[in-house]
Formats: sequence, structure tokens, C-alpha cells
Amino acid sequence: MTTAIIGTGGIGSVIARQLASGGETVRLSSADNESARALAAEIGRAAVVAVDNCDALEGADAVVLALRFTVLKGVIDEIADLMTDKLVVVPSNPLSADAHGNLERLLPEGQSSGEVVSGWLPARVRLAMAFGTLSADLFESSSNRSPELAVLFYATNDDRADEEVEQLIRTAGFEPVKIGGIEQSGRLEVGGDLHDLVVGPADARSLIGG
Ligand SMILES: NC(=O)c1ccc[n+]([C@@H]2O[C@H](COP(=O)([O-])OP(=O)(O)OC[C@H]3O[C@@H](n4cnc5c(N)ncnc54)[C@H](OP(=O)(O)O)[C@@H]3O)[C@@H](O)[C@H]2O)c1
Repeated sequence: MTTAIIGTGGIGSVIARQLASGGETVRLSSADNESARALAAEIGRAAVVAVDNCDALEGADAVVLALRFTVLKGVIDEIADLMTDKLVVVPSNPLSADAHGNLERLLPEGQSSGEVVSGWLPARVRLAMAFGTLSADLFESSSNRSPELAVLFYATNDDRADEEVEQLIRTAGFEPVKIGGIEQSGRLEVGGDLHDLVVGPADARSLIGG
């Protein structure tokens, strides 16, 4: 399978590495493509550097938008026509950082990134909020955990997306657990009760029910 990854910074690079090590072909794109090129060189044959964001989707089954919240809408508008009938995975938190690294929430309390992003997407796109629940370091160190895989939570409103995102999560070395529809996705964000939790499937199921 082939996944486009737009954004090869902190989280996009880790997602790309983990998917590639699980056998996925990744098509990489970034703002000036410098970081995409460096990452592709590190990953090797499983990675392709796309010419631009649109080219990243060429032949891809899914696209991960590993972008800061402030640039997400612009990129979605740029690639909108090419996303039809694809799985779109978004790990973005609705945050910006000031010059001192202090984080500021960009949405009102109670409104999640997932709810806003779903309003930006064109019709016939299957959205899953996933791959943003763990910080990049924790994501990397928790993948392919043994003897029991760690869980990666996800949220989607689309039944077909369930199967597709679960396959991607398994490829990245995690056990997928659905928490519900996009209206639940605030639980996955920074500040949400399921953010940055490394748990096995049994604990995960009791947490989402609780
Ligand atoms: N980092 C984490 O630990 C972490 C964990 C979970 C969730 N998240 C969420 O994931 C999102 C991304 O965070 P990050 O830390 O990975 O950010 P980041 O390190 O700043 O990386 C952002 C990436 O987006 C690329 N980019 C910017 N504008 C673009 C455009 N117009 N077209 C294509 N690519 C563009 C940048 O390209 P260049 O490389 O060329 O600058 C960079 O590769 C955020 O919403 C964050 O909340 C992050």
C-alpha cells in the first residue's frame, strides 16, 4: 500500500519511518521539500519524494496531513480535488507556539480540531483523526512494543475508514482502538484525557468506556 505524508517535521517524519518499516510505501512532501528529501534518503527504497503536495497523492491509497493547524486549511484547499475517495488521516492539534515555545489553543474550549477539519474537507473523503495522540518521541519508542502492542486511538464517522486506518495503525506497529466519531476526537488532542497515554488494549477499552 502507498500513503502520502504531507509534512515531514516532528510527527510526520516519525509516522513515515514507522509506516515504511512496516512495509508501506510513503510519498513525502513538505513546504520546501528539503526535510522530505533528507527523510527519504534516511528511509531508503520505501520512500519517494514528491514534486509537490499534489504529486504526493499520485497513486496513494491514503494521505496523512502531518501539518500545523494554521497551514492545514490552505493545504486541504490545494489538494482538495485529489482527495476524493481517499482516507485522510489528521494528527493535528489546534495549537500554535509563540516565539518562546508557549502553546496557545486556537479553538474555543469544547471545539476539536477534528470537528473543524471535517468542515474543511470536500465531499467523498473519509476522515480519521489519528496518529496525533502521542508526542513524536513517545510514538517512536512505543511502536512494536512487546509482548503486547501499545494502542493508538482513533476517531472517525466513516465505517469504511475504520478498516483502512486500522490497517495503517497496525503497519506502524500499534494496536488500533476506535474511541467513536469525530465528535469524540477532542479526547485525543493535547489536553484530552487520552492524549500521550501508552496503554495496552484492555486498559484502552476500559478507558474509552469510562
Ligand atoms: N511533534 C509532535 O510530537 C506531535 C505529536 C502529535 C501531534 N502533533 C501535531 O502534528 C502537527 C504537526 O506537528 P509537527 O511537530 O510535526 O510540526 P513541524 O515539525 O513544524 O512540521 C510541520 C511540517 O509541515 C510542513 N509544511 C508546512 N507548510 C507546508 C505546506 N504548505 N505544504 C506542505 N508541507 C508543509 C513543514 O515543511 P518543512 O519541513 O519544509 O518546513 C514541516 O515538514 C501539529 O498540528 C501538531 O499539533 C505533533
